[in-house]
Amino acid sequence: MQDITLEVRNNRKLADQTYEMVLHDMDRFPETIRPGQFINLKLDGYYLRRPISICDWTEHTVTIVYKIAGRGTEAMSQYETGKTISVLMPLGNGFNTGKSGERPLLAGGGAGVPPMYGLCKELLAEGKKPIALLGFNSAEEIFYADAFRALGVRPVITTADGSRGIKGFVTDALRAGILHTTAAESPCPEPTVSRSFCAGVKADGKGAAGEPICAESETDGNDAALPFTYFYACGPISMLRALNEAIDSRMGGQMSFEQRMGCGFGACMGCTCKTKYGAKRICKEGPVLERSEISW
Ligand SMILES: Cc1cc2nc3c(=O)[nH]c(=O)nc-3n(C[C@H](O)[C@H](O)[C@H](O)COP(=O)(O)OP(=O)(O)OC[C@H]3O[C@@H](n4cnc5c(N)ncnc54)[C@H](O)[C@@H]3O)c2cc1C
Ligand code: FES
Repeated sequence: MQDITLEVRNNRKLADQTYEMVLHDMDRFPETIRPGQFINLKLDGYYLRRPISICDWTEHTVTIVYKIAGRGTEAMSQYETGKTISVLMPLGNGFNTGKSGERPLLAGGGAGVPPMYGLCKELLAEGKKPIALLGFNSAEEIFYADAFRALGVRPVITTADGSRGIKGFVTDALRAGILHTTAAESPCPEPTVSRSFCAGVKADGKGAAGEPICAESETDGNDAALPFTYFYACGPISMLRALNEAIDSRMGGQMSFEQRMGCGFGACMGCTCKTKYGAKRICKEGPVLERSEISW
């Protein structure tokens, strides 16, 4: 872990209440970054740092995507290019990509989507074929769908209010049959869309209101309907719990927890939680936990 001063290179609005900030260092980052790790930002006027997942990175930049959740993130949204911020990084364990198998599912909900982007890039670089399943509250809050597409991974989108993609939560996409159906069975008029992601769609490929709801539910169009081999997830605790219940208990997975934190680097014990194998600090031994060790 390093305490370094980074400069804001860019801070732009992506969607409702959601911003992307690119931070820049003159020198090369001294440590290797893994997907699922986070940075802890010292904001002017606030004692506690704010933990935000690393979404993307290069040798000299780190990109974060954050939602306005309170006064600190509200202040961040006003930061302009050139502002400097003290940042502890990289923190936490990050995802283990070695266990993913050929075709892992990446499930991100809201502020849990950003770490899935970096993970997606890493898995693709390893020759894997990830499936991205992204959940939002509404169409106005959707971000990074195009960024995933640019990687060649067309995300399955769900919105709680049904304004885009599949109506409901990421678990509703799973219940719609993501696990077991094949592309050949697709009732959807869009050939690249598998039935897996369109279950609940009428035979004409339209939703209950007659609108084509498959457009945001596309996959990469090849072998997209193959069962996934493993899963990674980040999002609100309610989403993680629901996913745990929805996915076959024999399947392995890793989940990243957005726990409230004090120090962020293992010193204060403020983020300690109970696991099947004893107490763990989410900031240090997490934020990623193996599915098999989580005590719900
Ligand atoms: C490992 C990790 C990764 C995260 N990654 C992201 C991300 O990529 N994008 C994103 O939008 N948000 C992310 N969060 C949540 C983010 O840290 C909070 O939304 C943010 O700290 C809220 O700060 P605030 O001052 O705006 O809110 P306030 O409510 O004013 O914050 C008060 C205090 O509570 C803490 N806090 C509030 N909400 C949370 C929360 N959900 N999780 C942890 N601490 C919280 C703050 O850090 C601060 O110390 C992450 C949290 C963790 C633990
Ligand atoms: S936040 Fe201090 S130990 Fe985790």
